[in-house]
Amino acid sequence: MVHESPSLEISCSRCPTFQLQCWCHHWRRSSGPSCTAACMRPGSDGCRTRLACHVPSPGLRGAGPDRAPPWTGELRECSRIQMERLLHETREMADRLHGGAHATKEEGRRVQTRSTVLLVDDDPGLLRTLQVLLEDEGGYVVEAVPSAETALQILAVRGGFAAVVSDVAMAGMDGIALLRAVRERYPRLPMILITAYASVRSAVEAMRLGAFQYLAKPVDPDELLLQVDRAIRTSRLENEHRALKDRTGNPELFDTLVGGSPIMERLRDTISKVAAVDSTVLLRGETGVGKELVARLIHARSPRRDRPFVAVNCTAIPGELVESELFGHEKGAFTGAVRARCGRIEDADGGTLLLDEVGDMPVHLQPKLLRFLQEGAVQRIGAKHERRIDVRVLAATHRDLESAIAEGVFREDLYHRLNTIPVDVPPLRDHPEDLPELVDHLVAKICRRLRRPVVSISPRAVEALAAYSFPGNVRELENLLERSIVLSRAEGTVEEIAIPS
Ligand SMILES: Nc1ncnc2c1ncn2[C@@H]1O[C@H](COP(=O)(O)OP(=O)(O)OP(=O)(O)O)[C@@H](O)[C@H]1O
Ligand SMILES: [Mg+2]
Repeated sequence: MVHESPSLEISCSRCPTFQLQCWCHHWRRSSGPSCTAACMRPGSDGCRTRLACHVPSPGLRGAGPDRAPPWTGELRECSRIQMERLLHETREMADRLHGGAHATKEEGRRVQTRSTVLLVDDDPGLLRTLQVLLEDEGGYVVEAVPSAETALQILAVRGGFAAVVSDVAMAGMDGIALLRAVRERYPRLPMILITAYASVRSAVEAMRLGAFQYLAKPVDPDELLLQVDRAIRTSRLENEHRALKDRTGNPELFDTLVGGSPIMERLRDTISKVAAVDSTVLLRGETGVGKELVARLIHARSPRRDRPFVAVNCTAIPGELVESELFGHEKGAFTGAVRARCGRIEDADGGTLLLDEVGDMPVHLQPKLLRFLQEGAVQRIGAKHERRIDVRVLAATHRDLESAIAEGVFREDLYHRLNTIPVDVPPLRDHPEDLPELVDHLVAKICRRLRRPVVSISPRAVEALAAYSFPGNVRELENLLERSIVLSRAEGTVEEIAIPS
């Protein structure tokens, strides 16, 4: 049903209460109890046109001709062509919102990868309005809370938020104090502030404290959606940048698993199977066989591939620092803790955590690690609460954990928790037929790393390699090749490889 005069009304055939009206005004969003559709587009002549639900919304603050129900008005400033275009868009929009055939690919993608936004406002009306806006038009999952205190409680126990949007003036703790606390405790979480009393000074203060953006009321919905989207994208990019920086010293981490032997084919098959699920995997194998490589491939093929991959090597961190490195700490938790810091487990939130050389985890921390694995929650040193984290855990060890249990240096319950799916990465001597392919692959990789043209290895040298047992497995092979390439006298060919006697 479409009436074109004096105002524009459109009903959706699938939802009896969904009636849209549109008119030119500064627009404010409205929503009805059974239908939350609304849409706004700027007209080409600069006027703004609103489509809103017919049912008055309790969610708007203030009064005025464009705010008070009932939602009627006139479409005055739009040309007929603009109106037709608008009608067409609105019908499409109504269809989409009601699950119709017009849902685009873009929409589908947005739903799958929805980010969670924490929304804070002590005005229930505005809280609801902004929630509906962010959910319906932004496609976000929104956790709406009525105070800064509640926001901090939620953040303390749950990870996974992509951004915080908060009012400034609130009873109790205000938005600026919340901003300070968030910046200190969760420095990577972007925050947008909204205020009724915009002043240059408070804006400068907010930005100085690290707010992502500062918006004045009445909030322009387009602007808010734009800023939330930018905040989330920017922090994702920063995370990716950090991950790339972590890897630049280590180009081999971009690697692929080489080898066509049946044993490697089986390993590849296992990788794709375990990548699809979130189960804990224990990668077992001698030193240098490729356990970390396998862990990265599992992550890279998993639905978490766009989120962080964090590897913590339990051997490489000095004993007294392991706890703080893994679990993080609050400011003042111990001497030297001048600021709060989130641990590596929290860094991996949403992604995958590799506990490398887990057999070397200090015994006194094993119960805490077990608790994290069982509850999916971490407690920073000095924190009052645990925080829920969404992390897929992989563990790797070259040690025989059964004997570590017998020696009393590894907890049996932790072992069983980690060993949900054991995956054995075979030593090189179990698939010698892969040696030539591995040599080719590693030579190309090393030359790329050394920024040299790719060299070839003489058949004599390959034979010598085949006769060697490689106790250090692929890593030893790689080191041997690198040494020989660097020290080789001839250009373009490596004639000899100094095999350890
Ligand atoms: N099948 C393979 N194909 C290609 N490269 C491999 C393969 N296996 C191992 N590598 C390479 O060998 C090196 C050692 O692998 P990785 O660090 O994953 O082994 P690891 O089992 O974790 O070793 P460690 O026990 O010493 O920690 C890496 O450069 C890795 O890319
Ligand atoms: Mg390793």
